Amino acid sequence: MAGLGKIGIVVAATLAVFALGATTFVGSGVYDIGADDHHTKLTLSLIESLRDRSIDVRSRAIELRYVDAPDRIRAGARRYASLCAGCHLAPGEAKSLVRVGLYPHPPNLAQEELSDGRRAFWIVKHGIKMSAMPAWGKTLDDAAIWDIVSFIRKMPDMSADAYRQLADPLDAIAKQ
Ligand code: HEC
Repeated sequence: MAGLGKIGIVVAATLAVFALGATTFVGSGVYDIGADDHHTKLTLSLIESLRDRSIDVRSRAIELRYVDAPDRIRAGARRYASLCAGCHLAPGEAKSLVRVGLYPHPPNLAQEELSDGRRAFWIVKHGIKMSAMPAWGKTLDDAAIWDIVSFIRKMPDMSADAYRQLADPLDAIAKQ
């Protein structure tokens, strides 16, 4: 440790103690990773800060590409109904069996105002690690994801009937 000096040695020793503590904690298996048990406050606030900062940095430069054409909103609604509503609910759908056991709990997108379209697009495309939110960019192209995000924006003002008409393929055929 030549050249480190006293302070350097204290810092290195402190880091070694922390590393040992962290390894012992992880190795002991004492932390409950089960989704039916909540994180401690400290773990939760660390994970939430990590998630929010990571998404902020990555979504900042995305160009907003909301769509308004009825056929695009309809396409977004159909995909939402089959891929997302089971976790995020929809107008007139207040319950789902999958949702009950999910932790972190998926937000109810039928009621939540969409405040940041860039953030929503990034999350839908890339998903969120260690949560049930899938990376839809593996199966949908950007245009399809903007259709869904544009539909989500309209959901809080939508009645259950309007949603069903929009999302139900049989309803669309009946109108042709
Ligand atoms: C299997 C369950 C599941 C499915 C299916 C799912 N999500 Fe999620 N989603 C989640 C969870 C859980 C979170 C919260 C993650 C977190 O907070 O770390 C989330 C978060 C989000 C968010 C961020 C909301 C916010 O306010 O922070 C958006 C937007 C979103 N999902 C959209 C979608 C869309 C669109 C689809 C369908 C294409 C979808 N999700 C499918 C579980 C799911």
